[in-house]
Amino acid sequence: VEPVIVAIDGPSGTGKSSTSRAVAAKLGLSYLDTGAMYRAITWWMLGNGVDVADPDAVADQAGKAAIVSGTDPAAPTITVDGMDVSGPIRTQQVTAAVSAVSAVPEVRQRMVDLQRAAAVAAAGGIVVEGRDIGTTVLPDATVKIFLTASAEARAARRSGELKGAVTVAATQADLVRRDAADSGRKTSPLAKAADAVEVDTTQLTLEQVIECVVTLVEEKR
Ligand code: C5P
Repeated sequence: VEPVIVAIDGPSGTGKSSTSRAVAAKLGLSYLDTGAMYRAITWWMLGNGVDVADPDAVADQAGKAAIVSGTDPAAPTITVDGMDVSGPIRTQQVTAAVSAVSAVPEVRQRMVDLQRAAAVAAAGGIVVEGRDIGTTVLPDATVKIFLTASAEARAARRSGELKGAVTVAATQADLVRRDAADSGRKTSPLAKAADAVEVDTTQLTLEQVIECVVTLVEEKR
């Protein structure tokens, strides 16, 4: 049998990462967080003085950082030039700059190549989460899920994670801005694949979403 490939896409705050990790762990699959990869290259650009508002400057430097993702759902890791950046990639500074960096085609081409290589290397199957996995990175995925939720629910969840450091209103404004940028870019925008199953998580608990995705995968396996 072919190894199962699960593509999970959707905007921020829909529970994508928690769901993807839990589904991978339950089904004994590898796990890849592609958003972490875009955050890692953004972190590198900021640290190396690249003007992230200048697409030509970003394109020019797109090949410089060596990004390596671990694929164990129990302990996801990400390194840039051998340095663990799991913490630094979650800062507000990186979050504010990542949509601009990830809109640059040269950045996307490199990340997509790495993501496809990771999927091929995962002999036992993999869950890959992102924005364009079902549409562009792995169009032949076994199962495609598109997670959604109301902007209010997404902002509330994200502010819970940030532990009150930012207001819900500020978080919602940031999410809406990032979604608009991610959906509006020319190269592989955030989009639901025609053959993806849409799951609206607004009224669901994390456990319910996990159960729903596990069932969808088991039906196809
Ligand atoms: O998933 P996360 O919120 O960490 O992703 C951070 C950013 O990385 C997104 O807002 C988007 O700009 C970019 N991204 C992307 N394509 C993906 C995954 C993430 O452009 N497949």
